[in-house]
Amino acid sequence: MPTLILNKKQVLDLLKMSEVITVVEQAFRDLAAGNSSMPPKAYLSVEKGDFRAMPAALPGAAGLKWVSVHPDNPAHGLPTVMAVLIYNDPQTGFPLAIMDATEITAYRTGATAAIAAKYLAREDSQTLGIIGAGRQAYTQLEAHAELFDLKTIKIYDLSPEAARKLISSFPRLPLIEASLQETAGCDIVCALAPTREPFIKREWIVPGAHINAVGADAKGKEELDPAILKNAVVVVDDVRQASSAGEINVPVAKGIYSVNEIYGNLAEIISGKKPGRKDRQAITVFDSTGLAIEDVAVAKLLYDKAAATGVYPSVDFVV
Ligand SMILES: NC(=O)c1ccc[n+]([C@@H]2O[C@H](COP(=O)([O-])OP(=O)(O)OC[C@H]3O[C@@H](n4cnc5c(N)ncnc54)[C@H](O)[C@@H]3O)[C@@H](O)[C@H]2O)c1
Repeated sequence: MPTLILNKKQVLDLLKMSEVITVVEQAFRDLAAGNSSMPPKAYLSVEKGDFRAMPAALPGAAGLKWVSVHPDNPAHGLPTVMAVLIYNDPQTGFPLAIMDATEITAYRTGATAAIAAKYLAREDSQTLGIIGAGRQAYTQLEAHAELFDLKTIKIYDLSPEAARKLISSFPRLPLIEASLQETAGCDIVCALAPTREPFIKREWIVPGAHINAVGADAKGKEELDPAILKNAVVVVDDVRQASSAGEINVPVAKGIYSVNEIYGNLAEIISGKKPGRKDRQAITVFDSTGLAIEDVAVAKLLYDKAAATGVYPSVDFVV
């Protein structure tokens, strides 16, 4: 029986942001309904970065993503984040596919943040700020542009080259280079820098803003002034992951922020168990650490598409 092997290019050919948004949103509904299974990520730290093992099962799908995060990699011509996913038949355990998950990670992270913004940002949000113009920035842009009518998109990166490369990649969208303060002052802000410094200040955030805090996804990482969290409606993807590795992890460890202050998780909001934005003036924060259900939902989408065409390579891997 064949196992499909999908490399990065083949995965990219199969990925479509609007479809990714649909299946990721459904995965959160399945999570809220108790129809999925997802143990916490296992972290393995090494000198220059870390690895994470991320298993999950959803209705009709199961899989494991093995992902690395090495912040010095761009200097060596490699992406910071790289991943491979094994996609299995949950009935038999058979490995139906092995696929590059580097692009799956970027797409599902962008999709999840945009879905969070759909429920938490003001519906009439018109400006998007992107802080950190690396790999994740491209899919954050694509996903938010699917769901919002954006009039201006401000880009800030420590590296002006990175900001300009991003701007030139989206000629159809209203992108401009801006200062950190101007970018942080947008209606929706995506914080995408791999930092250990809370460099985004409370006074720059405008009333009614929504922030997707994405860059902090491991112990010790943070981007936001903790005063932002203290004043905001904070929604997490998973409370265990967020408190140990997400934007809130450092403030929680220092005793500045308590998990009891979290408003809810994204599955509760998407499923309607808790309302999303209630107040036009409130600042909302989505603390994203990345969930295995997102990856497996996208892997199922890609496997079903690839298997239906019959043109992708396979090997007799197990039997
Ligand atoms: N939450 C999630 O699900 C999730 C998923 C994937 C990646 N991430 C995290 O997102 C972050 C970005 O990932 P990536 O793949 O885009 O990395 P990347 O290395 O491709 O890009 C990071 C960019 O941030 C810029 N940067 C660094 N410090 C900055 C600062 N202080 N201000 C502004 N810009 C700064 C860099 O110049 C670079 O362009 C990483 O921390 C990664 O671990 C989170």
